[in-house]
Amino acid sequence: MSEEIRVLISEEEIEERIREMGRQISEFYQGESVHLVSVLKGGVFFTCELAKRLSVPVSLDFMSVSSYGDGTKSSGVVKVVKDLDEAIEGKHVLVVEDIVDSGRTLSYLLDNLRSRKPKSLRLCTLLDKPERRVTDVRVDYTGFEIPDEFVVGYGLDYMQHYRNLPYIGVVELDA
Ligand code: IMP
Ligand code: MG
Repeated sequence: MSEEIRVLISEEEIEERIREMGRQISEFYQGESVHLVSVLKGGVFFTCELAKRLSVPVSLDFMSVSSYGDGTKSSGVVKVVKDLDEAIEGKHVLVVEDIVDSGRTLSYLLDNLRSRKPKSLRLCTLLDKPERRVTDVRVDYTGFEIPDEFVVGYGLDYMQHYRNLPYIGVVELDA
């Protein structure tokens, strides 16, 4: 059995979209600093590219959560694997994720962060699969809405592979 990757969103399209998002987000936080909370591991590639396109002062922290499930579906039971290094109280926090799927992981994460009293809390995701939503999550900035297909690249993995692809692709298995 071999796997092939079909390009869904090219490197150029992603870069262009991240520049636009950078402009829009910088405008929103004009005159303030923004504290990016990047969700490990998948959110890291997008976080770095987005951070480079922000013109307001930026600080960064990382959080890792794991959701118990059968591997492809999350159950909604979430555990903090690595917590933030710094307190977020009083900060303008922007959570940066690779993808919002069922919304369960993020819904937990946002509730958790909200309880720490940030000055504001917003969510930015590179990809969104709205068809798959189970839990309501307010997404403030979306790079691309995609259909219900399993994608890899730009931080997203298939069994820990393909995170380093500079584009978003769909894994096609052929026997
Ligand atoms: P949720 O709790 O269902 O929204 O889970 C979101 C998490 O599932 C993401 O942060 C990804 O780690 C993973 N995920 C969801 N869809 C995909 C996909 O198409 N490719 C790779 N990982 C995915
Ligand atoms: Mg993720």
